[in-house]
Amino acid sequence: MASPLHLDGSDVNNNSSIKDLENIVEDVEIPVIDFSLLTEGTPDQRYLVVQELAKACEDWGFFVLVNHGVPDKLRNALMDTFKGFFNLPPEDKQDSADTHAMNPIRYGTSFNAKVDDNKYWREYLKVMTHPEFHCPTKPPQFREELKEYSACIRELGKKLLGGIWEGLGLDNNYMREALNLGNCFQIVVGNHYAPCPQPEKAMGLPPHSDHGLISILYQNDVDGLEVQHDGKWVRVKPLPNSYLINTGDQMEIVSNGKYKSIVHRAAVNEKRARMSIVTVTGPSLDTTVVAAPQLVSGESPATFRGMKYGEFMEYQQGHGLQEKSVLKLLR
Ligand code: SIN
Ligand code: FE2
Repeated sequence: MASPLHLDGSDVNNNSSIKDLENIVEDVEIPVIDFSLLTEGTPDQRYLVVQELAKACEDWGFFVLVNHGVPDKLRNALMDTFKGFFNLPPEDKQDSADTHAMNPIRYGTSFNAKVDDNKYWREYLKVMTHPEFHCPTKPPQFREELKEYSACIRELGKKLLGGIWEGLGLDNNYMREALNLGNCFQIVVGNHYAPCPQPEKAMGLPPHSDHGLISILYQNDVDGLEVQHDGKWVRVKPLPNSYLINTGDQMEIVSNGKYKSIVHRAAVNEKRARMSIVTVTGPSLDTTVVAAPQLVSGESPATFRGMKYGEFMEYQQGHGLQEKSVLKLLR
């Protein structure tokens, strides 16, 4: 299991995530959005849920999504398959974390037997599933399940984005075109955080923001995800049958800073393995992302300069996960 440190490019000098343990709150109720009202509700219900979505994005940048319509059977099967992948012998997993950031399949680990020197404790598999579909060959059922799951999440993501554009007063068709969502970039990341002998000395993932428009996260029943809100770290308790959604860097750019890309991190524990499957959806890689023109005015000039999404992502992946480091460069 042991392999070189910081394969995921984490910043070795950033200790704040490890030491900041006194600032965690657990009893905060984060917004819950009923997805079925967006897709099947009456016009009044739809109107209300769009307002709720807008409020959740503006005040929190993350929310729980229920009644999402993704079959439990599919989600659980895929979670088991990711588990099966992580249980494969090392030669079948082909550590490829040090390869180019845009490599469509990347497996890596930052476990290390000597926890004192190793602040990050995670095994992961990142698979690009759109516009081209990729998948490891093992376990054998992986391809079929991932294909179905990624297609399901793409649909969910596009409908959710539709509701978000509406809440910002933007036209859905216009946004689809402007961001070339027909060729949207999608990546599915499986994370495995094994029990850690000294959890107080390690993190699963350092504080970071996600590079895309939205991230859709499914986790097993072991908590560990912490999201920044009002200067505190909020520990998100997994709610059965739900997704956790957070807004990413491209959303902050498009919304001209109205919807912030949310900084989050993953803690580890001593007793039980934690797993998560995160799907990040963004514009097409060749889209130069700028603020929606409707949100730019004399009083609200564009906050960020434009950058191609592919370049943004490559830069972020190549320079390590650190808060909102790439976004800051565009100010
Ligand atoms: C992530 O931020 O990509 C994963 C967080 C988690 O495992 O909960
Ligand atoms: Fe993340």
